Amino acid sequence: MDLNVLVLPGDGIGEEVIGEAVRVLERVAQKFGHSLHLRAGLVGGAAIHRTGTPLPGETVELALRADATLMGAVGLPEFDHAPPSQRPEAGLLGIRKALGVFANLRPVRAWPWLLDSSPLKNHVVDGTDLVIVRELTGGIYYGTPRGISGQGAETRAVNTMVYTRGEVERVTRVAFELARGRRKKVTSVDKSNVLENSQLWRQVVTEVAAEYPDVELEHLLVDNCAMQLILNPRRFDVLLTENMFGDILSDEGAVLAGSIGMLPSASIGERRPSGAWTGLYEPVHGSAPDLAGQDRANPLGAILSVAAMLEYSFGLKEEAAAVNRAVEAVLASGRVTADLKPPAPPATTSQVGQAVCEAI
Ligand code: IPM
Ligand code: MG
Repeated sequence: MDLNVLVLPGDGIGEEVIGEAVRVLERVAQKFGHSLHLRAGLVGGAAIHRTGTPLPGETVELALRADATLMGAVGLPEFDHAPPSQRPEAGLLGIRKALGVFANLRPVRAWPWLLDSSPLKNHVVDGTDLVIVRELTGGIYYGTPRGISGQGAETRAVNTMVYTRGEVERVTRVAFELARGRRKKVTSVDKSNVLENSQLWRQVVTEVAAEYPDVELEHLLVDNCAMQLILNPRRFDVLLTENMFGDILSDEGAVLAGSIGMLPSASIGERRPSGAWTGLYEPVHGSAPDLAGQDRANPLGAILSVAAMLEYSFGLKEEAAAVNRAVEAVLASGRVTADLKPPAPPATTSQVGQAVCEAI
């Protein structure tokens, strides 16, 4: 199979972790006889430095032409005071929108070898296996009007949380389809006791759920969900929520997995005629500028994102399983990066990448 992949390392540790993820992709292509065609592009702070904008038009064109895009992370402290549209993050939000990847899948597993890496008690996290389905191209991140106006005590800042019925329907279907292949339970998370936006969300989710009588639906308010996630994470199978709630809850989920460095994500849009998904794959973690360039970052979130790419964009289930098994073998070996608190001296980013390649 021809695998046309665009690689966007971005900022900070993005470059290092994506370097290892690409090595793993190359190893898979070699072992299973696929032809890998890689292109590279600029996004985020790296793109601002080179082109003056966080998302150059060329990057969008390359992404639209590729079968899948593998992204690192964006964000640099030097842009902390820039307006949102001129920050590295605008590059990420822009490419998600341009690709139309409205459903962001963030699996969270308590890996048996990492139970002690979580600050929570083993009996709480053990057995956790959930997927957050985060709506990714709507809600308060994109709503208008937005902006800051006025002066002095009258300065006002406005953001708008907006969803249409169609936007809620399509992401709900992704969550229910996913649940059918899992434990058949969807928890929809909103703030419908306060927000009209959430009332529409809850109503539409309930209506779509009627098409899936074999899947159980429960509704949870987001504040309660934040608590349930660390009190009783095993109660969750598929957790469906809007953009900002999903952003926040997925970082909380990282505590269950042992480290945010372990979390992959797959952002998918419409199915292509071939049945494959348009996809953007990125670890959940950020650019961690304080760790950058030191060969210390955990590359497993990026590597697991490659597994998700093989599965969703290319339908290569066996190849995806080979990557997942290799990651498990590396976790079992204990040769992992410092964030996972290994008993022995921690491994480097490149040693972990190398070990995954060898295990494939
Ligand atoms: C994430 C990140 C991004 C988001 C930032 C970097 C814009 O936090 O992917 O979770 O909020 O979506
Ligand atoms: Mg986030």
